[in-house]
Amino acid sequence: MPKPVVIASANGHRFRNGGDATCVERAWQMLASGADPLEAVIAGVNIVELDPGDSSVGYGGLPNADGVVQLDACCMHGPRKRAAGVAALEGVRRPSLVARALLEETNHRLLAGAGAQAFARAAGFAIEPDLNSDRSRALWQEWTRRLDALGVSDPIARTHAGYRIGQQMLAEGLIDINHYYGTINCNAVNARGEVCGVTTTSGLSWKLPGRVGDSPILGAGLYVDGDIGAAGSTGHGESNLYNLSAFLIVEEMRRGAHPKDAGLTALARIRANTVDPALLDARGLPAFNVNFYIVNTRGELAGVSLYRGSNVNYAVCTEHGGEIRPCESLLDDPAPLA
Ligand code: GLY
Repeated sequence: MPKPVVIASANGHRFRNGGDATCVERAWQMLASGADPLEAVIAGVNIVELDPGDSSVGYGGLPNADGVVQLDACCMHGPRKRAAGVAALEGVRRPSLVARALLEETNHRLLAGAGAQAFARAAGFAIEPDLNSDRSRALWQEWTRRLDALGVSDPIARTHAGYRIGQQMLAEGLIDINHYYGTINCNAVNARGEVCGVTTTSGLSWKLPGRVGDSPILGAGLYVDGDIGAAGSTGHGESNLYNLSAFLIVEEMRRGAHPKDAGLTALARIRANTVDPALLDARGLPAFNVNFYIVNTRGELAGVSLYRGSNVNYAVCTEHGGEIRPCESLLDDPAPLA
């Protein structure tokens, strides 16, 4: 049987929200003391959802184009074959808990927008008027100031101009590249080989209101099969929505692939399917990065990415403690800005 192991995006071993454990450390401690793997990974990502230092997840996540923080999350329980997600949810700092409540209390698999918020309220969650931190609000105000200065009123042209301004702000270092698409994914296997996962995010910075990324979509930003393993993602959500990458990875593992090879197969699919010139850089390669965090029921794991880079890493916790490791990349090129 495997030893308990937790894998997450790199922010899973960076933020503590003033406490003494990171996401992967907390999840591993809970696994080691016999907690259910879904409880463990959700307790882990809750740390990052509540920490305003990570402006890509939960409270203090970068808001949409209207300045409203809209959150996406989903979770999957491998052994119990249950899953649920919430999308474009406003006013709840820890959307992963709302997804878990939906998983536990209903047979629905996805709630969005006002309906997701009404469910959260009915389930006893506090609804807050604004999830911006001072920092996320100030960054949105700077983005809006630059956009308004262009005088673009057509909504579609404004969307494209807004994207370019986001790229500028990344290039100037005003936003951490890992917070533009952001997200935390965390997956765990316990000593009985039981696997669960969760993905939670504020999504693409300054997105169109109502935009839903891959994170709450089963098979896109997360997929878990209790007999096989788990895969989750951070980075360019639209490419996972198109390719259902997390599902593809788990299916590759079902056919016998090691987590690393399964992840590289999904990345190759993304590369092959990215033909829209708007998504290609001057080299004809995808103008974005995307990352996967993968573990099978034997505890074999991999963190993989389209591009390599000093900030393209993943987090792991074992009995030896938490650590950051570099992702293995499909392409031997440096990651673009976003
Ligand atoms: N991967 C997060 C998002 O695109 O929303």
